[in-house]
Amino acid sequence: MTTIPPSPSKFMTLERHISEGERAHPGATGEFSAILHSLSLAAKLVWREVTKAGLVNILGKTDRMNISGDIVKKLDEFADITIYRAMDHGGHLCVMASEENEDLLQIPEEHPQGKYVLLYDPLDGSSNIDANVTIGSIFSIFRRVTASGAGTMEDVLQPGSRQVAAGYVLYGSSMMFVYCSGHGVHGFTLDPTVGEFLLSHENIRIPDRGSIYSVNEGNYRRWGEQVRRYVDYLKEEDRATGRPYSLRYIGSLVADVHRTLLYGGIYFYPPDSRNPNGKLRLMYENNPLAFIVESAGGAASDGHGRTLDIQPTALHERSPLFLGSREEVKLVEEFLSGRR
Ligand code: AHG
Ligand code: MN
Ligand code: MN
Repeated sequence: MTTIPPSPSKFMTLERHISEGERAHPGATGEFSAILHSLSLAAKLVWREVTKAGLVNILGKTDRMNISGDIVKKLDEFADITIYRAMDHGGHLCVMASEENEDLLQIPEEHPQGKYVLLYDPLDGSSNIDANVTIGSIFSIFRRVTASGAGTMEDVLQPGSRQVAAGYVLYGSSMMFVYCSGHGVHGFTLDPTVGEFLLSHENIRIPDRGSIYSVNEGNYRRWGEQVRRYVDYLKEEDRATGRPYSLRYIGSLVADVHRTLLYGGIYFYPPDSRNPNGKLRLMYENNPLAFIVESAGGAASDGHGRTLDIQPTALHERSPLFLGSREEVKLVEEFLSGRR
């Protein structure tokens, strides 16, 4: 008889990983697996559209595609609607909210209400689409706090520490789905020949230190004194502390954070004179990415305290973000508090 060599990871699809993870929880109903599965389907549909982005001017024969210069907005909208439609009927969610919509997104009346809440940034880094640079989608899942019926603002405005899962999808040179539901951060890469996400990055751990910083340094003169001093420090020559650090800034948060997760270092979007709370949105960007990075052993702060402890007061509120290797976040907090 043929000897079958052990090779479990080759067959670890995203679906199997999610359901095996859920089975480990006594009393799990499978609802959670269904949510993540639908999200991965939505992501594949967005990816299909993203890969056509460069062809718009060549193949733009339809009305929709003919509006040149509008593709970024089109893809934002496409991703927003696709994710909503993929998630509105499963019976597992009671409300959604997306970066692209001012108000809560209710579940259509004809579908049952569930016990979870979904928040998402449908397309992150969308200004990079035309340059064929990595973009992504980000999601955050909470358990509802109200008892039944349609979800309300109370269900949505929960601190990030109460997320039950979060993750992101990268549309890059390959497509990846990275998620955490409380048991480590795991990354899957799409094998386009079979249309399946396969486990490629098991139990990602962020290095405790790193020597890469990632920030839009064009805003330097708009930053406060402490942030400027911190960045000046990173650029000084000192072999003992690994300085100067290297600068990497893609301008797609999701891609900058993914690199930070794998290589270590720090990503930040500080307050500046035009944006007193920075630019990034707490509910759709900071919270899910903070959940991922903390679960991988890193840290995320608004400069003074833990991002995940912030009690949100509005759907689209912004918050400064300093996120990455634990030691790097500690260092920037020391600069910001004047301890250095
Ligand atoms: P979005 O495309 O979802 O609006 O997000 C854009 C965000 C984020 O992805 C990125 O890191 C940041 O904006 C870039 O801002 P700057 O151009 O100010 O650097
Ligand atoms: Mn975004
Ligand atoms: Mn967006």
